[in-house]
Amino acid sequence: MAERLSFRNITALAPMVRVGTLPMRLLALDYGADVVYCEELIDIKMAQCERVVNEVLHTVDFVAPDERVMFRTCEQEKERVVFQMGTADPDRALIVAKLVEKDVAAIDVNMGCPKEYSTKGGMGAALLSNPDKIVAILRTLVTGVSIPVTCKIRILPTVEETVSLVRRIEETGVAAVAVHGRLREERPRHPLNCDVIKAVAEAASVPIIANGGSLDLVKTNADIEEFRKKTGSSSVMLARAAMWNVSVFSPSGPLPLEKVMEDYLKYAIRYENHAFNTKYCLCQMLRDKVESPQGKLLQAAQTHADISAAFGLQQFCQQTEEELQKKRSELQGDCPPDALRMEGDVSTMAVKFIRREYLPHFSPKMFLLEWSRKEKLQQPLYEMAQRSLDRGFQSTVTFAGKRFRSSLWEKSKKFAEQAASVVCLRVLGIPEGRIGDEESDLVCKRKRDGRTNGTTEEEQSSKRHSGDMRPEAETPHVNGDTPPEKS
Ligand SMILES: Cc1cc2nc3c(=O)[nH]c(=O)nc-3n(C[C@H](O)[C@H](O)[C@H](O)COP(=O)(O)O)c2cc1C
Repeated sequence: MAERLSFRNITALAPMVRVGTLPMRLLALDYGADVVYCEELIDIKMAQCERVVNEVLHTVDFVAPDERVMFRTCEQEKERVVFQMGTADPDRALIVAKLVEKDVAAIDVNMGCPKEYSTKGGMGAALLSNPDKIVAILRTLVTGVSIPVTCKIRILPTVEETVSLVRRIEETGVAAVAVHGRLREERPRHPLNCDVIKAVAEAASVPIIANGGSLDLVKTNADIEEFRKKTGSSSVMLARAAMWNVSVFSPSGPLPLEKVMEDYLKYAIRYENHAFNTKYCLCQMLRDKVESPQGKLLQAAQTHADISAAFGLQQFCQQTEEELQKKRSELQGDCPPDALRMEGDVSTMAVKFIRREYLPHFSPKMFLLEWSRKEKLQQPLYEMAQRSLDRGFQSTVTFAGKRFRSSLWEKSKKFAEQAASVVCLRVLGIPEGRIGDEESDLVCKRKRDGRTNGTTEEEQSSKRHSGDMRPEAETPHVNGDTPPEKS
């Protein structure tokens, strides 16, 4: 069994919304952080997630019903990652803690975020004025999970009040308390109250993790120890200093920012981080250089390939993306295209729907529908399946009394239906509308009829029948576009 994570004499990457995703956490560990906190994740959203083992990336993903990857983690950080949640409800907190318990080293509750959207739900800093709720949440967690539980607070108006709160907190059995030495209404630019952290550390029996020193106290790795001594704390937690240059954790650092950004981008590509999230973090690192030529390229980027171009990493990006795609195909069990196989009563082929092979307003699904009308047959009927491995979709179409599907899995429902239609059309020898087939009867008819109201009949039909109108290029993504949150 793994050793319980200790919070004594450690240096930690602080929880940071949008910043604390997997690439940043792994890089912080590489450079020397002992413990890494994930960004705050809200209990209600997490409770709806499904745990999915991603065999392509070798990660564990917690995937929301809308396919967003809310939290992605991997073996490399398993013993040192702390899952921070936003909660105001002991039962819901426990549901989420149990969901992630096997994949993380500890659970933390955010009790310091002063932003309205957190406090109005009774979470974050709102908990500071409700110590009974704090105790209820922490007790429930400590007794309900087998891994350490911690919390992160801000200081209260007086030293006495802060010490008394921490005493109540430690009675719940938590493994540590992180103390951000500012009042709820103080901003991150205000001076830090090191003396209050010190008084708390002296009075407490659990390890105290000092936080809040990034602006003027911790600029280099050597400053970390100074900050620890000044606050009389067990440990230190860094947010902004790490966000600006995460090599602050390296005793032999700091490394040049270019190297840090390159290392960060490599992890982001390797772990299919959401490109907008990658871009956000790199912009934070560039700081005042964000208007430089490189910064402008970065700001205009939409994909990891674009971002890589701004950092001279195109080859790495292309190679890594190809390797991941190859792995994905292997897992899908590729077989020669167009080889017809029977799986029970279903005719299958290994077919992928490739949009660019078709004219913009034509699709195999549309062709099949038109064929059914022309031949006065029943309209094709689609059934959808989804697998947990990678949330891939596979559709089976019933047409003319037979069933057809592609043996390959697609990223979206729409593509899965198109792939099933291709198999059906190929098996039945019906034109499928690929570029080059333009002069087939059906295409000519479509061209004559035109598109009414900018919508094809097929689209109107699928609107009536399916309700799934997501864009075809949609892919799952990592928690990339939540607003930044500072507490
Ligand atoms: C971009 C950003 C996001 C943050 N998100 C969180 C969060 O999710 N949870 C949390 O407890 N604190 C959050 N904080 C607050 C930090 O963890 C930390 O308490 C604060 O920045 C003071 O530490 P520092 O001086 O080392 O930056 C965030 C701070 C920043 C800059």
